[in-house]
Amino acid sequence: MRGVRRPLRRALVVLAVCCGAMAAWSGAAGGQAQPQSPRPDARALVARGRVLYAQGCASCHGADLRGRPELAPPLRGAGAAAADFYLSTGRMPLAERTQPAYPRADIDALVAFVGSFGGPGIPRVDPARGRLATGMAKFTEHCAGCHQIVGRGGIVTGAAVPALDDTTPTQLAEAVRVGPYLMPKFSAKQLDQATLDSISRYVQSIRHPDNRGGWGIGNLGPVPEGMVTWFLAMAALLAVARLIGERAP
Ligand code: HEC
Ligand code: HEC
Repeated sequence: MRGVRRPLRRALVVLAVCCGAMAAWSGAAGGQAQPQSPRPDARALVARGRVLYAQGCASCHGADLRGRPELAPPLRGAGAAAADFYLSTGRMPLAERTQPAYPRADIDALVAFVGSFGGPGIPRVDPARGRLATGMAKFTEHCAGCHQIVGRGGIVTGAAVPALDDTTPTQLAEAVRVGPYLMPKFSAKQLDQATLDSISRYVQSIRHPDNRGGWGIGNLGPVPEGMVTWFLAMAALLAVARLIGERAP
């Protein structure tokens, strides 16, 4: 009896370790861990932002934020919303979506600095308050023409339309209100808060389609998901084989 139980326990441990590793992996792949930086007081933040701006932005946007012809538009009145959008999506100081060039604390400082020259603040958005059906209908009506119905991006004349896979709800709200590059901007009259919440809920939902297997492993697609299944099946088979093996005289 003990001979049977010990491998069984060992098999359970193996399974538990597998599941733990998978959970960790899935967390790393799909998680949105945002380090919470302590909030320094607002004035210190703006002061830090001024230093970062002088180093990384002034050469194009001008030391006085009035822009430089041929190089970059003015940032007076651009607002915290635009600054946060361009910086957090990595569009600034580069021109396409990459990893953000600055850590979050520096982005906060730059956003506070640019925001101190006026303009729209960072819009609020709460996907949890949105309605999926409304979101889908409004996305289809206002966004899908460029972004495709499942938010995979596409091409409009003169611009690559980005996929929305990596977009956070706040970045989405910012894009909607700011209208980056060739994207139109939508006022609160055109898309009110409830509609914005719904669109962001819909976009979240197409980013996280139902995890049909029951476990989220980051929606990595059929191949890796199949591999995980095999991995588990193999661990289970090994455990059974051992059980049988140890039970045999
Ligand atoms: C190499 C030149 C260059 C540098 C450096 C640069 N930018 Fe820009 N920036 C641009 C250009 C060009 C645009 C217009 C691009 C567009 O509309 O997509 C722009 C647009 C912006 C916008 C949007 C303005 C609006 O009215 O919506 C913001 C905000 C911004 N930049 C912030 C920054 C910040 C903050 C930095 C420093 C971290 C920075 N930029 C560094 C060239 C630059
Ligand atoms: C006319 C075509 C067009 C329409 C309509 C449009 N967009 Fe866009 N969208 C764009 C383009 C082009 C960009 C890339 C802008 C850039 O790179 O600066 C963009 C960028 C974005 C981004 C930033 C993605 C990222 O993380 O890099 C989001 C979010 C977004 N759009 C959401 C929406 C939503 C929501 C709607 C509907 C309310 C919408 N868009 C309607 C063309 C469009």
